[in-house]
Amino acid sequence: MPETRVAPNQTLMPVTAERDAAGRLRVGGCDLADLAATYGTPLYVMDEATVRAACKAYVQALAKHYPPGGRVLYASKAHCTMAMMALVASEGLGFDVVSAGELHTALKAGVAAERLVMQGNNKPREELKLGLTSGVGRINVDNLDELALVCALAEELRAEPRILLRVAPGIEAHTHDFIRTGQEDSKFGFDLKSGQLDEAMALLAEHPRVQWLGLQAHIGSQIFEANAFSQTADVMVGLLAELRARHGVVAAELDLGGGLGMMYTATDDPPAIEAAVEATARAVLAACERHGYPTPKLVLEPGRSICGTAGVTLYAVGGRKVVPGVRTYLAVDGGMADNPRPITYGAEYTAALAERVTSGAPEVYTLAGRYCESGDILIKDVVLPSPQVGETVVVFGTGAYNHAMASNYNRCGRPAMVLVGEGKAELVVARESLDDMVRLDRLPERLRKAAREGLPCP
Ligand SMILES: Cc1ncc(COP(=O)(O)O)c(C=O)c1O
Repeated sequence: MPETRVAPNQTLMPVTAERDAAGRLRVGGCDLADLAATYGTPLYVMDEATVRAACKAYVQALAKHYPPGGRVLYASKAHCTMAMMALVASEGLGFDVVSAGELHTALKAGVAAERLVMQGNNKPREELKLGLTSGVGRINVDNLDELALVCALAEELRAEPRILLRVAPGIEAHTHDFIRTGQEDSKFGFDLKSGQLDEAMALLAEHPRVQWLGLQAHIGSQIFEANAFSQTADVMVGLLAELRARHGVVAAELDLGGGLGMMYTATDDPPAIEAAVEATARAVLAACERHGYPTPKLVLEPGRSICGTAGVTLYAVGGRKVVPGVRTYLAVDGGMADNPRPITYGAEYTAALAERVTSGAPEVYTLAGRYCESGDILIKDVVLPSPQVGETVVVFGTGAYNHAMASNYNRCGRPAMVLVGEGKAELVVARESLDDMVRLDRLPERLRKAAREGLPCP
């Protein structure tokens, strides 16, 4: 396995990617074109070594730069499969879960409920109940109504939830509007100007079963400026100090969310995991010192930077369409249903051929998906060496928010996924079959009959 000196979020390809002498691309010691032939396409490939390296980078950086200690929670929303949950758990991380589905996946994978933190701006009552009866470690409460619900459920279930309150800290991270969450006008978290936090504290004082541990913020995703995290740290410790002054409470924990960016294209320049953690940790320590505040445990919630660069997606080339003088479309057998990020956020990706680098004249292609939307374009301009029909195209950086956001648009089954490492590939998600496409449909008998016996189609 090649040594890597860059952080796992600072590579375009998984850390184990290598071309052999014949120009064939391997990840985790597995030949990508062979994987495509064995498992079919589209195929998600996850590199175990890259995920492990990213987990270790977070855990070690937190231990090194934040002596009071803390916890790294993997944000399951980025990529939630049983294999991923088990893998990340084995590196000592906890989990941020946003739904009963994510919670169930973690428990099914063998993760202890105590390691889970429930998140989200509208957790359904039944899901909160499930969390409380399963014994989740924390609930990050998003608003006053939810706090009232958690208090009521604690009484009803005789539970003793430990909670943090999520706030919108008013930090405008420089990222896409849809993935920016820390600004004042956000659906997430308590508003800071309207006294909602004071109301929350008053409510908590009436419900001693519910233990308040601290505050949480998450300012957005795909963030490239470490100082956005230090700024958040500063604001949040200031808030804790205000709460102490007004309510006499001292937080045991401060959760600063996730959001560190990763490399999708050669121009992306995210800080290394360690640098981002160090900047955050330093800012928390400095702000605590300034306010004379006892240092809380520091909680981080990385998603994309744990698993994004670990993933590649393999597609088969179906054909090309030349629009003279305009562009050449190269159609592949996947697209917006397995990777909705380009059509949703205008996200950019890079790609290469699995079996060769340079033979054939390099040309610029528009990598088009197979779905019935003109906007289903995976990459606008990508230089590839004259791909032939049937060849395998590898799109890099698809480990986060691809499988997790995939759909069955056009009734296409979602791709299979393999986990690769040390020359072995293991199937961790089976390909959806045609029967899976109709598994949840129910056809009233009268309609089945009508389809057979109704009007003829001229
Ligand atoms: C509350 C919270 N924590 C953590 C994350 C993970 O973000 P990222 O994948 O950018 O690290 C998100 C993503 O939206 C989030 O909403």
